[in-house]
Amino acid sequence: MSYGKRIDTLCSLLAPCKTFADVGCDHGYCSEYMLKNGLCERAILSDVSKGSLAKAESLLSPYLRSGKAISVLGDGFFGVPKDTEQVLIAGMGGSEIIHILSHEEHGFMPARFVFQPMHDAEKLRRYIHENGGYIVRDFTFFDGKYYEVIVGGAKKGGGQVCDEICLKPYTDAEYEFGRENLARMGEAFVSRMKKLVKNLDKYLSEPSISEENRAELQRRKQRLEGVLQGEIK
Ligand SMILES: C[S@@+](CC[C@H](N)C(=O)[O-])C[C@H]1O[C@@H](n2cnc3c(N)ncnc32)[C@H](O)[C@@H]1O
Repeated sequence: MSYGKRIDTLCSLLAPCKTFADVGCDHGYCSEYMLKNGLCERAILSDVSKGSLAKAESLLSPYLRSGKAISVLGDGFFGVPKDTEQVLIAGMGGSEIIHILSHEEHGFMPARFVFQPMHDAEKLRRYIHENGGYIVRDFTFFDGKYYEVIVGGAKKGGGQVCDEICLKPYTDAEYEFGRENLARMGEAFVSRMKKLVKNLDKYLSEPSISEENRAELQRRKQRLEGVLQGEIK
């Protein structure tokens, strides 16, 4: 069964685990994937919106009845135990994900996580590294729009192996663009960079922009071209 490319990509990055939490679950498709395929013993469906949570509750009602899933109405990690083995947070801004991870009472760095921030991916990568986490996968994919996905875990008590490459500190460019994108230059990432350059060319062709703005846009364009030429790592 396919849920569409974005959800299928997220599902493909989820590992088998005992406890799984889908924070901001909305429809609950990824939880359905985990439960249907026997990839987790127990799932927590959580959402801050009653209407969103109701969708997951309806989709997953047999699992809720059998106790294999529980639903929690609340902000972020409210009702999500800190020893949850794997956490998915997808479709929210990177700053919102940081707000959830850093919550005074309920926040924690999950043993394993899959994050799909809608923006502020750089901020999230930095937060992960500065707060006891590591990153094993970090790439762009395309499904009508460009999406970033970051997979990793907590350094302490993490549920997966972090090899030498993953332990190597990130460069500024890797924080900005994603380590895997710079190393592999995948199709979606390259096409996103080319699109950004094209947009900058459009702005630069406007005769009315100030010299200051023009210089800034030129600098940005040079940086993106440097990435495309493999000069910025
Ligand atoms: C765009 S939907 C994404 C749904 C699903 N995770 C996906 O990727 O398809 C974002 C969901 O996150 C929920 N949400 C936003 N902020 C939240 C927070 N702080 N805590 C829990 N849920 C939140 C929204 O109510 C909404 O259902």
